[in-house]
Amino acid sequence: MNTKRLFFIIVFFIAIASVHGQQAYKEPHRPQIHFSPKEKWTNDPNGMVYHNGIYHLFFQYYPDSTVWGPMHWGHATSKDLVHWQQQPIALYPDSLGYIFSGSAVVDKNNTSGFGKNGKTPLVAIFTHHDPKGEKEGRNNFQNQSLAYSLDDGKSWTKYNGNPVLKSPGITDFRDPKVFWHEPQKKWIMTLATKDRITFYSSPDLKNWTKESEFGKELGAHGGVWECPDLFSLDDNGKKVWVLIVNLNPGGPNGGSATQYFIGDFNGNKFTPMDSSTRWLDYGPDEYAGITWCNTGARKIFLGWMSNWSYANVVPTATWRNAMTIPRELKIKHVGTAIHVASEPVAELNSIRLNPVALSPGARKIALPGRLDLSMDKPDNFSVTLSNDAGEEVVIGYNKEQQQFFIDRSRSGITDFQKDFAGKFVAPRFRPSGSMDLSLIIDVSSVELFADNGLTVMTAIFFPAKPFDRLRMQSAGNAPFKKLTYANCKSIWK
Ligand code: FRU
Repeated sequence: MNTKRLFFIIVFFIAIASVHGQQAYKEPHRPQIHFSPKEKWTNDPNGMVYHNGIYHLFFQYYPDSTVWGPMHWGHATSKDLVHWQQQPIALYPDSLGYIFSGSAVVDKNNTSGFGKNGKTPLVAIFTHHDPKGEKEGRNNFQNQSLAYSLDDGKSWTKYNGNPVLKSPGITDFRDPKVFWHEPQKKWIMTLATKDRITFYSSPDLKNWTKESEFGKELGAHGGVWECPDLFSLDDNGKKVWVLIVNLNPGGPNGGSATQYFIGDFNGNKFTPMDSSTRWLDYGPDEYAGITWCNTGARKIFLGWMSNWSYANVVPTATWRNAMTIPRELKIKHVGTAIHVASEPVAELNSIRLNPVALSPGARKIALPGRLDLSMDKPDNFSVTLSNDAGEEVVIGYNKEQQQFFIDRSRSGITDFQKDFAGKFVAPRFRPSGSMDLSLIIDVSSVELFADNGLTVMTAIFFPAKPFDRLRMQSAGNAPFKKLTYANCKSIWK
């Protein structure tokens, strides 16, 4: 081929690639301040680990279709938890099965022996799901396996001794979340085992011993337990332990959701402080949420922004589903009650443009954006997002019922699943006194954080035309002490 011809072919391909690049992330309903894969299907966040200044986000990924299928681990990285760069696929299915959810750790002491030439290994611990075994009706088709990276997460090698933890004959035996337990110098794996959590320990990530079980008689059991997480949080100088257990179905507003327990973990056993069922997010669209490893005292949570009730049929064309915004978890007390509160990570302020003061009434807006309000004496109020097609999402507070709500009954395209159009509610936990509330609003989602994150709700929506109006209404004389709206810059520009 002559050089001129080669030159034109190269220019042609660069042009096509750049047109493609420009169009991705610009489709209708494409989240502008949330991570979603450039194309195709995603569900759970996986292997979240902070290492050498980079936040790694792996995710359940099917690169061949926009519906769930043979699972891979997709990969994205970020320096600030806000802007993401998609990387090559990290883990492909193999003869042991699909690559289901799991976690990743920094093996600083090279306990696994995977480290070489002084290079610290990153180790991924994930579930191998064998679809053949499942089809044949066996009960041991989910097993835990390892892969490691010696180039800071760029490339991954599967361990040749996989699987390292075989199913004892439990059909739902998956989603390992692993951390280093410093007092007893051992790794702890928190594993979802059907209707309970089973804890295992290991000196080297390869040999695992069962420690204890938790939760058969506690918490919500409307469906199978999945994607757990165990970590400690500071409570005024004391350490409390939080056990996250995702559940599908059986959430407070139907379908999948994230419950948690507060208690103590002694290296062997989790002991809850009470028998309450608590929810990290009451909305319909946060699931499989867990936290980043290796972030020190700071605990950063991220969930999948969808619900198994309809995740496969939401009306997007080139990609399907996104993650929530990252949220920082903190212990908060209200009277004698104790909660894990979630707040948007402070890093998100970097994309917030100048906030403008709003007055009650209607105005034009552009999404994405963030609305912040506070009230000294909380009363009924609502925030309505709408378009000139008569579609709307209404978000607000009902004082009599002490409930926040998100109503997407008339939010546009809703007929892909019977329960999608609906009104969802969540309790207010602060019984009196002032209220503050933030809404992170993307083109197809809203996340509500009330009372400094004591109540959180996430909901997605699919208007036929973008929402471009905002109407504030409030009852009685409930003046807003603060009421601002700020546009946010797209993370893809
Ligand atoms: C949760 C889940 C996990 C499983 C993965 C499969 O959404 O069902 O339990 O590992 O998704 O994609």
